[in-house]
Amino acid sequence: MQRRQTAAAYHEQTKHHFDRYARSLGHLDWATQPDPFRRFASAPLIHLPFASSEDPILYDKLYSHTLPEPAALSASSIGALFEFSLALSAWKEYGGSRWALRINPSSGNLHPTEGYLLAPAVAGISDQPGVYHYAPKVHGLERRCGLTTVVWKRLSLGFPAGTCFVGLTSIHWREAWKYGERAYRYCQHDVGHAIAAVGFSAAMLGWRAMWLDGLGDGDVAILLGLDRDGDFEEAEREHPDLLLAVTPGWFESLPRSIAGDALEEVASGSWMGRANRLSVSHVQWNVIDEVAAACLKERKEGIALTIGRQRDPDPDTNPPRLGAPPSARAVVRGRRSAVAMDGRTFLPRQTFFSMMDRVMPRFGTAPWCALSPAVCVHLLLFVHRIEEVDPGLYFLARDADEMGLLREAMRVEFEWTLPEGCPPDLPLRRLIKGDARRVATQVSCHQAIAGDGAFAVGMIARFAPSLETHGAWFYRRLFWEAGAIGQVLYLEAEAAGVGATGIGCYFDDPVHDLIGLTGTKYQSLYHFTIGGAVVDTRLTTLPPYDQARRET
Ligand SMILES: Cc1cc2nc3c(=O)[nH]c(=O)nc-3n(C[C@H](O)[C@H](O)[C@H](O)COP(=O)(O)O)c2cc1C
Repeated sequence: MQRRQTAAAYHEQTKHHFDRYARSLGHLDWATQPDPFRRFASAPLIHLPFASSEDPILYDKLYSHTLPEPAALSASSIGALFEFSLALSAWKEYGGSRWALRINPSSGNLHPTEGYLLAPAVAGISDQPGVYHYAPKVHGLERRCGLTTVVWKRLSLGFPAGTCFVGLTSIHWREAWKYGERAYRYCQHDVGHAIAAVGFSAAMLGWRAMWLDGLGDGDVAILLGLDRDGDFEEAEREHPDLLLAVTPGWFESLPRSIAGDALEEVASGSWMGRANRLSVSHVQWNVIDEVAAACLKERKEGIALTIGRQRDPDPDTNPPRLGAPPSARAVVRGRRSAVAMDGRTFLPRQTFFSMMDRVMPRFGTAPWCALSPAVCVHLLLFVHRIEEVDPGLYFLARDADEMGLLREAMRVEFEWTLPEGCPPDLPLRRLIKGDARRVATQVSCHQAIAGDGAFAVGMIARFAPSLETHGAWFYRRLFWEAGAIGQVLYLEAEAAGVGATGIGCYFDDPVHDLIGLTGTKYQSLYHFTIGGAVVDTRLTTLPPYDQARRET
């Protein structure tokens, strides 16, 4: 109860209001800007190979039940798993500054999310199982801990041969440096994006990524070595987020956890490396430490999550595409945030409907299988420029069974009519016709991208009831779901040849007021926009990795 209250109080305290933003420094202290790259000094570094230029899988196939033959676990398949999820995607240069972009997006490009791998012996990586930290700048693995084959067997008990595990952690300070108290929310969004990015990258290899939601944060900390005080000392600590089992193909029943005795053995493995310090000094945001402590996830065997209504995957209905269907790699590599929208581009109606279809949960397919089956986040849509669709407010109930409750919670005057041409099984409804460009911009911290796109999104989560059912830690999980939806929307925009941007800065309660939501049953957790991107031609784009490094 107390923990739930802390999570809810944090949420309330970190709302942006028209007349007051959540607390932050209010300026950027460049002297303490955090290093975007964590490294573990003295941990052996293994360079991962880059994928060949052959492009085996089409983007639309990523959402299908039928994936390519699972790749064997090898240095090149593990290289591809990270190259298409957490690696660099480009370097940008402007006016003497240079910064890296990544496959996964991040609020303010601050990248609080770190990636880890637990793998058996793999030729080209190590002849012993181990725990590794992924170093995106060099596309390499830092070997943090060597494990025996006996320990690996215990660790992977119940999982099919060829399984590895990917861990995600957050360094809250990276986001707090810029965003102050609201930063904890952004870290969780970023985890959601990263979960989906790993889910898609696994699907490209014929693998499935599945969240081990039975594990507690303490377990994840042990498995990734985050609890090893001596390895961090002055360095910023990492908060455990989750562990994904990455299996060769889809298995209906897999353990959702790892046996406790295996954890003890990992803890007493031979650990290597010391974390680097990211900033010379820090500003302490107590409320972030408090909410992080309240939202710690306990270990839970056989976790019981409410399963929302799932739609059957239909691998054969791919959206109409202008030109050749894009490859998965091109879409994943090409994903970028638009800094401005052109205020002109219209999206074809079919493209819009198929984007909405893509964000519907399908438990057996990427990326939703990586996230557990609970469906808590719905989409409020500000439709501006969709051909043959009236501008106005629309709503996508991602769990159609909740449409009645949502309707009761919102303004009585809303229509809830199926838009013309919309597939009848898609729970998309028009709420009200009208020009929503101005209000979309206003509630998105006055950011023009929300009004100048083809449409903007407010992600509305079933909030208080979700925390009541699952506990305070589920506050994080709600943002993860929103982030994963964001990742799908980013890729869908790229595949459709338009731009997209995640929007973490929005005015919370004015969004609720707009659609008549009162209390905390539903809360807006993330905004998004899709439309014709304006390219910033002042920036120079450089390849993510030096050609010489690619060829080694
Ligand atoms: C959770 C989240 C919130 C974001 N919020 C905003 C925002 O409010 N306004 C904005 O212009 N961009 C926003 N972005 C876009 C980021 O600035 C962008 O992802 C980052 O600069 C990296 O660029 P890239 O996405 O092209 O790799 C957000 C991105 C994420 C993932």
